[in-house]
Amino acid sequence: MSLKDQVDVARQLLANYPVVTIPREVMELRKLLDLYEFPNPSKIKELVSTSPTLAGDLVALANKLSQKKPQPKSIQSIDAAIDFLGLKNIKHYVFCVQIQKMLDASPVQGLSYHSIVIADILVQLSKKLNLLNTAEAYMFGLVHDIGTFLFAELDKLHPETFVASLMNHYQVHQDEYARFGTTHSAVGYVMTKDWGLKDEVCKAILLHHEDDLKRIKDKDIRQLTAMLELAHVLALENKKNILETELPVLYEDTIQVLGLTEDDVNQIRRQVHP
Ligand SMILES: [Fe+2]
Ligand SMILES: [Fe+2]
Repeated sequence: MSLKDQVDVARQLLANYPVVTIPREVMELRKLLDLYEFPNPSKIKELVSTSPTLAGDLVALANKLSQKKPQPKSIQSIDAAIDFLGLKNIKHYVFCVQIQKMLDASPVQGLSYHSIVIADILVQLSKKLNLLNTAEAYMFGLVHDIGTFLFAELDKLHPETFVASLMNHYQVHQDEYARFGTTHSAVGYVMTKDWGLKDEVCKAILLHHEDDLKRIKDKDIRQLTAMLELAHVLALENKKNILETELPVLYEDTIQVLGLTEDDVNQIRRQVHP
């Protein structure tokens, strides 16, 4: 089945089962922030402060990210949170806190944990590769498997299969297609396109279980896809019985596309598995 057909089926299903709805104020805030090339801190503070929950969530996220720095500091105010997260990144982090809540509330076992682990690794990889900024990389990780939400809605037993699906990176699409006529990657693509995420990021989500990266003609999309797949290798390589046959192939392909050496990857490994 072609990718186009998978996307079409995903779009039809989402029209009938709108499983994830981003709150209106978050979408409005994102659109408003898009208007400012050089955002004014007081304007952003004013916008964020219209939702006390959002403001609190941003402070909590800033604290969480600060803990990963060599010299973590306690962030107590929205001003300090905006300062720490960076003006240009706030629109991505506003989105991140919303997605994080949805992941935490999801019945899909292991999805929230997996998404955060991948997001953290993508942040480290993005610093090395300069393909995305830190905020975009974190969001990329959080949303990459968001399409699973739809299958959890269609089949109440599906949430229990997510962790098992991680053991077979290439097979998971075939299984999903046989059951639902589409894949979590195609569903995630439609969702993230609708939310207005960067086109290359949406396409990398669509392709993130691709077994032959050479088939991806666009260099940016190929590299983002490789970055996401390499993050899976680094997240799963220490687990027993996972991807034993697929891991080495996935690893070699991705580091070749990304132009990374074994030393580069070891450096990332030390950061993600300290
Ligand atoms: Fe996936
Ligand atoms: Fe994943």
